[in-house]
Amino acid sequence: MTKTSGPRPRLKRVLLALTAVAVAIVTVVVGAGAWFYATADVSTVGKVDFADELRIPPLEEGEVEADGTRVFRLGTRAGETEFRPGRTTPTWGFTSPATAADGRWPGTYLGPTLRAERGEKVRVEVRNGLDEPSTVHWHGMHLPAAMDGGPHQMVEAGGEWRPHWTVDQPAATLWYHPHPHGQTERHVQRGLAGMFLVDDAKAGKLGLPDEYGVNDVPVVVQDVRFDGDRFDHGHRMMRNTGFLGDETMVNGTLAPYQEVRDEVVRLRLLNASTARVYDFGFADDRAFDLVGTDGGLLGAPYRTDRVLLSPGERAEILVRMRPGERTVLRSSPPGGGDFWQSRFAGGDDSFDVLELRAAGTLRPAPAVPARFGDVELPDPADASRERHFDLRTSGINGQPMAMDRIDATVERGATEIWTVRNRDGITHNFHVHDVQFRVLEVDGEPPPPELRGRKDTVYVPNGREVKLVLRFDGPADPDVPYMYHCHLLSHEDGGMMGQFAVVNPGEQAGRPPGGGLEHRRH
Ligand code: C2O
Ligand code: CU
Ligand code: CU
Repeated sequence: MTKTSGPRPRLKRVLLALTAVAVAIVTVVVGAGAWFYATADVSTVGKVDFADELRIPPLEEGEVEADGTRVFRLGTRAGETEFRPGRTTPTWGFTSPATAADGRWPGTYLGPTLRAERGEKVRVEVRNGLDEPSTVHWHGMHLPAAMDGGPHQMVEAGGEWRPHWTVDQPAATLWYHPHPHGQTERHVQRGLAGMFLVDDAKAGKLGLPDEYGVNDVPVVVQDVRFDGDRFDHGHRMMRNTGFLGDETMVNGTLAPYQEVRDEVVRLRLLNASTARVYDFGFADDRAFDLVGTDGGLLGAPYRTDRVLLSPGERAEILVRMRPGERTVLRSSPPGGGDFWQSRFAGGDDSFDVLELRAAGTLRPAPAVPARFGDVELPDPADASRERHFDLRTSGINGQPMAMDRIDATVERGATEIWTVRNRDGITHNFHVHDVQFRVLEVDGEPPPPELRGRKDTVYVPNGREVKLVLRFDGPADPDVPYMYHCHLLSHEDGGMMGQFAVVNPGEQAGRPPGGGLEHRRH
C-alpha cells in the first residue's frame, strides 16, 4: 500500500496547530464562564463584625395645628455621610426638625420616620434642597392622586410642595421615596428613603411592642457597594435585574447591632434596595411571628422562620429573645429563576444583616394575642372587571411607560381582579399606588399565609402568575393618574410602569401632560 490517502505532514501540522488554538479558546471561554459564575455570588455571612450600634431614624411627629392637621416639614439635601470611620461618602438625605435635633443622626442619608394616626389630617411641607427636580411618593398610602408624589408631582430644585390628605387606613409600616420618572433608582440609591408609620386605636390595644427604637425597631435594608469613598452604583455584566451591591446596610449602618432589653422585639423590615430580593430569617433558624405585611397587620400572627421581601415590600416580625443571647438577622439565598439567572440576579447571595444582642435581664413582654381581628381586604365577589398585566422589562402589556397616556381607567368604588404574569425570563415584582390589595392566587393556588394580608407590592419571579383583588376607593381625578410598576427601580426607570386614573362612573380619563423628564437619562 502506498501512503497517498493520509494527510500530508504539512497539513497535519496545520490541523494540529488549529486544534491547539481551538482547545485554548474553548479553555479560555469555559474558564472565563466558570470564573464569572464562581465569582457572581456574594456572601457576607460570617464576615460582618457588628461593631456599629444601629442608627435609628429620628421619629418625626410633626406639629398639630389648631384644626387638628398634623404638619410635617421635610427637606431634601445633598451632603456627606460617614458610613466607615473617618471616611465620608457623598449622599442625599431627608431633613426635618427631628433630624436636626438628633445629635446621633447624620441627616444626610435616609430620612426621619414620620408617624400619624388613622383619621388624622396631615400635611407635608416638602422643600427640595437638591439642585435638581425630584418628588416624594408616599408608598402604600391611600390618598388623592395629586398628593401621591408620583412623576406628575415634580418639585423643582429649590421648590416647595405641600400635599395634604386624611389618613384613612389601618396601622401599617409605609415608606416614602422619590419617584421622578427615569431617575428613581438614582435618587433612592443616593439615600432618599424613609418610613411612614400609621397607627390606629385597634392595633394599639393589641399589646404589641411599640416603643420606637427600643422594642419597635425600623429596619431599612439596602445593599451597597463602595468604590473608595464613593458609592459604586454601576450595574454589573449580565445583571439585568439592576444594581446589586456586595454588602448591606440597615438604616445606613454598615455592621449594625441592636441592644434588646425586652423579651420580644418588633422589627419593621423594609426592603429599600433597588433590585435585590431578601429571604430574611435568623442565623440560628429560630422561629418568629410574622404579624404584618405591606399594608398592616395580619388576621393572626403566623409562626415561620423565613420571610421573603422583594424591593418595596415590608414585614413586621416579633422575635423572642433569651437573656444575654445574640442572634443575627440573615438573608438566605432567595433563589428565583433558573440556575444561571439565579446566580446573576442575586438568587444565590446571602447576607448577615443585623445582630440582636439581648441584655442580661429582659423586660417581660405581654403574650402575643392569638388573633388580631379581621383584615380589611377587598372581596372578589364584588369584582366588576378583570385586567391582565404581562410583565416585560421593555414595558407592561407591550408598552413602555408614557407620561401622557393613561393605561387603565377605573371607576371609583369598583373592585377589580388583576392577573399579573411574568414570562420575561427575569425577576420582577408589581406595585400598585393608592391601594392595598388582596392576593387571591399564586400560580392558581390560594396564597401562602404571608401573602394573605394587605399588600401593595408582590413578588413575581419568572414564570409566576398572581391574581389580585383591588378596590379603588378614589377620590376620582380623571386628569391625574396613579402608577403601577415593577419596583426593581432600574426596570421602573426604563419604562416598566403604567398609569391608571380613578374616575366617577361614566367619566372619561383625561390626558396628563407629557412631562418631558421621561427622556432624560443619566
Ligand atoms: Cu415605592 Cu411607585 O413606588
Ligand atoms: Cu408606591
Ligand atoms: Cu422588573
